[in-house]
Amino acid sequence: METVRARKDGARVPVLLICVPVSSDGAGYLIYRDLAETKRLQNEQRRYHEIQLELANVNRIATLGQLSASIAHELNQPLTGIIINCGASLRMLASMPPNLDAVQDAVRRTMRDGQRASEVITRLRALFSKKEPELEPVDLNEATRDVIALSHGEFENSRVVVRTEFAADLPLVTADRIQLQQVILNLLRNAMDAMSTVVDRPKDLLIRSELAEDGCVRLSVKDAGVGFDPNAMAKLFEAFYSTKTDGMGVGLAVSRYIVENHHGRMWASLNDGPGATFSFSIPFRRGADIPGALR
Ligand SMILES: Nc1ncnc2c1ncn2[C@@H]1O[C@H](COP(=O)(O)OP(=O)(O)O)[C@@H](O)[C@H]1O
Ligand SMILES: [Mg+2]
Repeated sequence: METVRARKDGARVPVLLICVPVSSDGAGYLIYRDLAETKRLQNEQRRYHEIQLELANVNRIATLGQLSASIAHELNQPLTGIIINCGASLRMLASMPPNLDAVQDAVRRTMRDGQRASEVITRLRALFSKKEPELEPVDLNEATRDVIALSHGEFENSRVVVRTEFAADLPLVTADRIQLQQVILNLLRNAMDAMSTVVDRPKDLLIRSELAEDGCVRLSVKDAGVGFDPNAMAKLFEAFYSTKTDGMGVGLAVSRYIVENHHGRMWASLNDGPGATFSFSIPFRRGADIPGALR
């Protein structure tokens, strides 16, 4: 059992008390083991996780802020559609005789637009609701598609051409879907940032999922941006490292933390041509047996 004992100098220390009986009449040894060091390490580890979680939250809020332009665009389109179709319906109802078939069509289009707007909200909620991490079977292709859909307007505005190469029949991974989507969003956001100053070539973005050799699924995001200084490779994933004037430098640090918590790996490489590729891989064979994966 764990208890507290006083040292000779009076300091109280946590100890592990072990009783070893040597005979049936109750005689035996009492062994005390000093737990101070173990406790200190445990506290340190807990603090480390707390800091990572705080960073993840800061990153989430920052991403939401950055996404707001895109979200506005995603919502504005269906809302404009709704207003136009309602106006048209009113006019057609007022005409003599009212063109009911056309009104029906316009109302259907209104419903479809309403549906679209509500899907945007649902996706956002799913991505930004603050709930306990939850491991579930996740289809990486589907999770990625959702994130791309949310950034669609922004890709268009910044003339980024998105191409996806998703492996068919990708095995499901046991993961926290929202956290993985956070990672993907960070990678897409960085890729867009890296291409924001590019004017002399197409802003191609390739998002590829594949089955890796080592029992993992891999997702990579390849951009045609400015790339990075190869000497800074190790720094990219450090917290608060940023080369952007308005960068916080937590996106990649948080992303790698999330991926490693899923027993995966994350890395960066420079392309043969312009730009960089950021990838992560997550094992899929482990099933639901990831003990304490996400704290
Ligand atoms: N796709 C990319 N191409 C080139 N450099 C990148 C890319 N993604 C990240 N980086 C580099 O890594 C740094 C850290 O990224 P990140 O942790 O997301 O923070 P931030 O985006 O706030 O700068 C960036 O400032 C940039 O220098
Ligand atoms: Mg970033």
